Amino acid sequence: MIQIKQIATTRMAGLLLAGCALLPGATFGQTIPSLKDTFKNDFGIGTALHNAQFEERDPQTTQFIVRHFNMATPENIMKSAPIHPKWDTYNFEPADRLVEFGKKHNIQINGHTLIWHSQLPAFMRGMKSRDSVRTFFEDHIKTVAGRYEGKILSWDVVNEALNEDGTMRKSVFLDYLGDEYVTEAFRLTQKASPTTELYYNDYNNEKPAKRAGCIALIKKIQAAGVRIDGVGIQGHWHVGRVPFKDIEESILQYAALGLKVMFTELDIEVLPRNFQGAEVGQRMTANEQSNPYVNGLPDAVQQQLAADYEALFKLFLKHKDKVTRVTFWGVNDGNTWLNNWPIRGRTNYPLLFDRSNQPKPAFYKVVALKQ
Ligand code: XIL
Repeated sequence: MIQIKQIATTRMAGLLLAGCALLPGATFGQTIPSLKDTFKNDFGIGTALHNAQFEERDPQTTQFIVRHFNMATPENIMKSAPIHPKWDTYNFEPADRLVEFGKKHNIQINGHTLIWHSQLPAFMRGMKSRDSVRTFFEDHIKTVAGRYEGKILSWDVVNEALNEDGTMRKSVFLDYLGDEYVTEAFRLTQKASPTTELYYNDYNNEKPAKRAGCIALIKKIQAAGVRIDGVGIQGHWHVGRVPFKDIEESILQYAALGLKVMFTELDIEVLPRNFQGAEVGQRMTANEQSNPYVNGLPDAVQQQLAADYEALFKLFLKHKDKVTRVTFWGVNDGNTWLNNWPIRGRTNYPLLFDRSNQPKPAFYKVVALKQ
């Protein structure tokens, strides 16, 4: 820990001096480079936001978000359970506030997500007829996508429709609507919200088998004459095990389909995990080894994390003509979902900023690529 702090302090002192020359009287937080400005000629820089953040409950947090990010994805509030809690009841208030937040601060909103097997409203669970699933599917897309037409940049129209081997994942939509449901979701969204960009989003879709399934899905949508603008690779990876070759190959193959490629939920897990990916329904049981870094991240792991982020951003920059956005799944290590998944109450460190919004070694490695 002491060693980490010393390295960070020395680096920060250098940037502080440089920053002060530009911003006399600036407070410390304003002197580090802005992430979004650093990559302004390359791709958008996004973050996932929850209510407290876009409701601007803490002015310093707002300032920090606005300084570093030009795109935002709602971490939960646009998912079907919160936005469509009952058959004929929608709760648009939080999403409307997020849209206002974006407008006020010049942050573009990426809608997440219309059709997904997880975080479904309770009334969907007991649904046992094709007609009722179809009615939900059509009403939901029409109403939610329609409301935000012209107000948000994009929709993750369908999230996580695939298994690891590239086949279609079993879900209430596949069971009752058949595998045409993905194309149909894009068709309905396009109709309800013609100016919004439409994406397919998944985790592990950089891996060869799942990528092949994803490409087949995209080709099917395109062959039906339905618009799809981009593919999101979530990017929930593990320290020291980021699949760089698969990622590069995927950027090339998805871009060859004429699609924008984006990294939509980036974070790098540093804690023990016995599986990869991001199936939110999957859990692990806690044991004595599962939360090893409560008192700080060891320097070796911190440096590996920095090296992984550096190599990733090098790759993103190499393909900046194809990569349009990089979104982190959270603002800082204090509010990442990985503190509570797949085990509740752990101390995780997957992002570029620590629990006090201070930049980590990974941040400096990433911005140094542009200096
Ligand atoms: C996660 C949120 O971060 C959590 O707050 C929530 O409890 C579960 O969902 N893939 C996705 C995201 O597409 O919507 C998930 O977000 C993380 C995995």
